[in-house]
Amino acid sequence: METATAGTAALRLRELLAANRKTPCATLERDIIDLRLAAFRERRWPAPRRGTIDDPPLARRATLSDIPASALDAEVLRDGIQGAGGVIVRGLVAPPRVEMLRDALDRAFEARRDAAAGRAADARWYGRASGVKGAPQQFGALGGNSERTTGSLWAVDSPAAAFLLCELYHALQLPTLLEAYLGEPGVLSVKKWVLRKVEPKPDRQAGWHQDGRFLGDGIRTVNLWIALSACGEGAPAPGMELVGGREPVIHPTGTDGSYFDWTVGPGLVDRLTKERPRLYPRFAPGDALFFDHYNLHRTGGSPDDTELRYAVESWFFAASTAPAKQQPLVL
Ligand SMILES: [Fe+2]
Repeated sequence: METATAGTAALRLRELLAANRKTPCATLERDIIDLRLAAFRERRWPAPRRGTIDDPPLARRATLSDIPASALDAEVLRDGIQGAGGVIVRGLVAPPRVEMLRDALDRAFEARRDAAAGRAADARWYGRASGVKGAPQQFGALGGNSERTTGSLWAVDSPAAAFLLCELYHALQLPTLLEAYLGEPGVLSVKKWVLRKVEPKPDRQAGWHQDGRFLGDGIRTVNLWIALSACGEGAPAPGMELVGGREPVIHPTGTDGSYFDWTVGPGLVDRLTKERPRLYPRFAPGDALFFDHYNLHRTGGSPDDTELRYAVESWFFAASTAPAKQQPLVL
């Protein structure tokens, strides 16, 4: 994305990425995180340009698009996200990379456990870059709630995993796809880039929510959720449950029988799903789902689930709209 006018951090980032491809090490990988943060701050992001996101609204459909990876382009992305509420992309990530990422997640969570237990943790797989601020406890802030090897972990807190993921995004040519869709570069953020290992919990009542509820006004987003386990309908691990179709509104929360003040109550979901389907798609490892901040969803589950679900959630913001409190970083 950088040009001849690339700033100091962007140029240094390029050097460190090349060095880490040759000889990966914890120091480089942490510095890369800091440089991604600095490169976002040093660049003057233009006001939003017109991208395919701004094209006239599409006729609404209620069932997600479902396409092979070879069919993915900006127009298909727009049609799926804005016309249907989301796009399932089959086989976006090839099996060898799926294996590598599952292994990366295991290493990251194990290193976090080691750190929490006071043992020497592998700093490539769990460590905090100096520029990363804060963390809700459930996301494994250093020293907090971290002895579990399941749950959620900020990708940036596993510098080696973050490096591998960005290499994957570039191999998939996501920067080009996102720029065509958003009309400007897409950027990641510290807070909305998460590694997840979700336990099967037959009695779980996960909260229905729209991520736009937490992210502020005026944003333009694409979430890429990559399944690294077979999950969802008929699979042994918890998947993603969604309301099909897209309504560009943020629904009220804390009403209609909702347990938390940030979740959409089951009564409201029942009313919405009189008109729109409730979906529990099946995903194979490497399948992905794209949607945006209006999508209404929750972690699903079945009483028959027996396995962990590995996944990576990556929210991309149109750079000029990325909220500072999410701590944006360049891809
Ligand atoms: Fe969500």
